[in-house]
Amino acid sequence: MAKSRAEPAKGQSAKSQPVKSQPSPAGQPGPSGKSVLQDGKVFLGKSVKPEYLDLSLANRHGLVTGATGTGKTVTLQVVAEGLSKAGVPVFAADIKGDLSGISEVGEPKDFLLKRAKEVGLDGYKNSASPCIFWDLFGTSGHPVRATVDDMGPLLLSRMLELNEVQEGVLNVAFRVATDEKLPLRNLADLRAIINNVAERAKELQTKYGNVASSSIGSIQRRLLVLEQQGADSFFGEPALEIMDFIRTAPDGRGYVNVLVADKLMEKPRLYATFLMWMLTKLWQTLPEVGDQPKPKLVFFFDEAHLLFDDAPSALLERIQQIARLVRSKGIGVYFVTQNPLDVPNTVSAQLGNRIQHALRAYTPQEQKAVKAAAETFRPNPQLNTERVILELQVGEALVSMLENKGEPSIVERTLIRPPEGRIGPITDAERRALIAASPVYGKYEQTKNAESAEEILARRGPGGTADGAADAKASSGGSIGDWLGTVFGPTKGPTGRPRQGVGQMFGRELQRTFARTAASVIRGVITKALKGRSR
Ligand SMILES: Nc1ncnc2c1ncn2[C@@H]1O[C@H](COP(=O)(O)OP(=O)(O)OP(=O)(O)O)[C@@H](O)[C@H]1O
Ligand SMILES: [Mg+2]
Repeated sequence: MAKSRAEPAKGQSAKSQPVKSQPSPAGQPGPSGKSVLQDGKVFLGKSVKPEYLDLSLANRHGLVTGATGTGKTVTLQVVAEGLSKAGVPVFAADIKGDLSGISEVGEPKDFLLKRAKEVGLDGYKNSASPCIFWDLFGTSGHPVRATVDDMGPLLLSRMLELNEVQEGVLNVAFRVATDEKLPLRNLADLRAIINNVAERAKELQTKYGNVASSSIGSIQRRLLVLEQQGADSFFGEPALEIMDFIRTAPDGRGYVNVLVADKLMEKPRLYATFLMWMLTKLWQTLPEVGDQPKPKLVFFFDEAHLLFDDAPSALLERIQQIARLVRSKGIGVYFVTQNPLDVPNTVSAQLGNRIQHALRAYTPQEQKAVKAAAETFRPNPQLNTERVILELQVGEALVSMLENKGEPSIVERTLIRPPEGRIGPITDAERRALIAASPVYGKYEQTKNAESAEEILARRGPGGTADGAADAKASSGGSIGDWLGTVFGPTKGPTGRPRQGVGQMFGRELQRTFARTAASVIRGVITKALKGRSR
């Protein structure tokens, strides 16, 4: 199965590069061997030299690609284990359930011991990483919830796959809710406000514009589908406190937050929207820190093509912006996908740390992908990258990591180290035990049902207007409502205070960035002009 060693560089025989490994106490590197963590770096495996992910450059994002069964998930596990050991919390979507094994001690199987020896990992010892399981459907992990207000009309429109006109109507519903102080916490609230807006279409027309009844019908039908998909468990309270993803265990290791995503896989819209919401929320919450010795949090988005497939260009632009902006908040984002072409160029250009497992190239399109993948690497004169991509064995990859001041290392054919946790899924009993022992157990398990739009509107009766409406409680948490909302302009929150939407924050941040760029361009032009004159 796994090839026994990395392909030697031209002119060298593999045998001339023996891996010297000497016995050493568990977990300690031998004189010539490597431990999982070394000098602020995560040990990844061995090429003609040891390969590392430099923690201080881990916020420069990354990409793991390769055909099915080539070792992507195990590589993700290897990197996540290393980060956790370094005290860096990790968030990873577990699409097929097989990443959950990271939470259990692996078995020292022969092929793993052999691999450990080949890569010079002395004192290889199986161990479990501290894990917290999360589940949008609230069944196989702690429930992850957001309020409808927090999600906002734009992301919801995407989730519901609305067209422009329908999106306009949804936007009206949000504005009415805001103006009439109706907190939208769950999907029942959303349904209630949409019904109310439909009933009052005539009255609302002058202030908010046309609310076509055909659009209302479509939105209601889409909402029903979303509910049937189980998304109603995602909307409500208690909403997720995003800082719960940034936890370290008492022994200093970072928690690995595993998002149970097997069901999500069939609902790519829900998956993509949730991940965007989460990243944006983090970006909104965390302070600017610049470059740090190690990241605050690292994300792994497995099956990343789900994020990009059919995504409208506005959303792609936002993904690209978020990726750029979260870097200075100390967040690293790693996409894991089969085909490197799954990731749009603008995003791909920001992914500095790269691991390419084997690709197949039967069709012209596949051949194109291989060529494109090969061209993204800093060339190694000793390697024919394009050919090697086709030859790589399971658990072997082309690796190019950022080094020194952030330049990509020369690509090397690398044997990835074996994971310390289990390879493959955990059992239901193991999962239940881990959930019960988790530091957030009990915090999200019970839903809260504070008064919100549904109850207030029910009291008003059919077609009820804002007159005589009860005072609504403020919805909890920082609103992310109109985070893409430069499109819609500022709105007010249920408390009547202007919403500090991420949209506006983005706007300001981008303005600042733009101002800085403009200033340096102007400086450049002036300098050039002055130089020209002095010549
Ligand atoms: N670094 C490694 N050390 C030892 N064995 C490995 C390593 N990487 C992969 N393997 C072996 O290869 C198998 C498949 O790897 P993995 O599940 O990571 O593939 P994948 O690329 O994620 O596949 P898929 O696209 O189907 O999800 C593992 O179950 C394991 O047996
Ligand atoms: Mg996999």
